[in-house]
Amino acid sequence: MTLDMKKIVIAIDGNSGCGKSSTAKALARQLRYIYIDTGAMYRAVTLFFIKHKIDLKNDLDVAEALKQIDISFEYNIVTGKNETFLNGKNVERDIRQMEVSNLVSPVSEISQVRKKLVDQQRRLGEGKGVVMDGRDIGTVVFPNAELKIFMTADLEIRAKRRQLELAEKGTKVALNDVIDNLKNRDIIDSSRADSPLRKADDAHVVDTSHLTFDEQVDKILELINIKIEEV
Ligand code: DC
Repeated sequence: MTLDMKKIVIAIDGNSGCGKSSTAKALARQLRYIYIDTGAMYRAVTLFFIKHKIDLKNDLDVAEALKQIDISFEYNIVTGKNETFLNGKNVERDIRQMEVSNLVSPVSEISQVRKKLVDQQRRLGEGKGVVMDGRDIGTVVFPNAELKIFMTADLEIRAKRRQLELAEKGTKVALNDVIDNLKNRDIIDSSRADSPLRKADDAHVVDTSHLTFDEQVDKILELINIKIEEV
């Protein structure tokens, strides 16, 4: 296998909490690709809006706030993870809190927000050799991505996984609250006017409900290897 030879763009989209980020991270590590968590970018904007009490309905306030937002990623050699920085401050932990999760979908509906983040995402991926996960990567950000994956899983299974993930980070949340959050985000994310979550026509569907983590990574690696042979 000559993975180093051909760098491609791998777009991973899908519902909230179906393991996109952890899968994308594992793939990027194995392929020595850059991993970009676009959900973290929408979460960072949401955190800023919460902190500065920005009225989501006020276009001017939103525009002003967006001018003050700078999002970057830095690789942490201790945790082995790419961490999210908002205006130079590490917000990796803060952006995963339920307060942010509960507001991130309404924030992501705002076209001005999407434009700013999509422009940055395209710049981050222009050199290829990137795994990017989100909701509109295969449809809007990189419609010409060489490989598109659409991940999905049963709602309850997703909620249990997310609850466990939060517990591991020290946050206890009731399962019903996680289910409600995932359900609401799926509805808003799929029905918004600008760049709704939908499977690109040429995306491969990977249902992770009954797959172990290693199985889902291996399944996508197989698709990547086939694609790299082709390009
Ligand atoms: O991947 P995540 O659950 O961390 O994403 C948080 C929210 O960000 C998600 O509910 C919708 C929004 N999002 C988006 O609209 N477009 C993306 N490309 C990524 C995330």
